[in-house]
Amino acid sequence: MGKVYVFDHPLIQHKLTFIRDKSTGTKDFRELVDEVAALMAFEITRDIPLQEVEVETPVSTAKCQTIAGKKLGVVPILRAGLGMMDGIVDLIPAAKVGHVGLYRDPDTLEAIEYYVKLPKDSHEREFIVTDPMLATGGSAVVAIESIKKRGAKNIKLMCLVAAPEGVEVVQEAHPDVDIFLAAMDEGLNEKSYIVPGLGDAGDRLYGTK
Ligand code: PRP
Ligand code: URA
Repeated sequence: MGKVYVFDHPLIQHKLTFIRDKSTGTKDFRELVDEVAALMAFEITRDIPLQEVEVETPVSTAKCQTIAGKKLGVVPILRAGLGMMDGIVDLIPAAKVGHVGLYRDPDTLEAIEYYVKLPKDSHEREFIVTDPMLATGGSAVVAIESIKKRGAKNIKLMCLVAAPEGVEVVQEAHPDVDIFLAAMDEGLNEKSYIVPGLGDAGDRLYGTK
């Protein structure tokens, strides 16, 4: 069973409060989502393997460390997952970026796939799949299936806010995937929105409401 980590770092929790606040406008919302994504990526990448290298400093030779082997891949689930991408890529510029395009049918809530593009060497990379919202879990399950089908083996799911129902659905479908959150909320309302949540993440990021 995949583990669930909720980051209680004060900076993450502080910024998440403003993200949730309905009076936060698009510009600030977008900046805050990126900042939280970067802080979460810093924690998530704690276990990536290092290799020893030697560099010449102006004074002598130093034994140092760099990230070993293939670098990371980031896969935002379109649209809202894109809002977390820049924060991660600013921190890890060598990361390659794939995209999975999904939308949640408003009537059936089924996740409908409309676009997938991943780096060619997917089987060799560790992927962080990003989406601010993990509600019913339908979108995350389909996105992870889709990238597994294309060879990805090592996948982490990073979301800002989740409902316990969605977490359970992802854990059932993908027991090999650990889930990283800024908050675990109370649950879902009758429209399958996360409560208290932060509203429609895509609309708030892109001002489309
Ligand atoms: C939202 C959100 C997730 C999904 C979560 O996307 O960004 O992808 O819903 O819901 P689920 O866990 O019940 O599947 P939406 O379908 O609104 O598309 P958007 O990102 O294009 O706004
Ligand atoms: N998608 C969102 O953007 N927000 C929710 O609360 C649930 C799904």
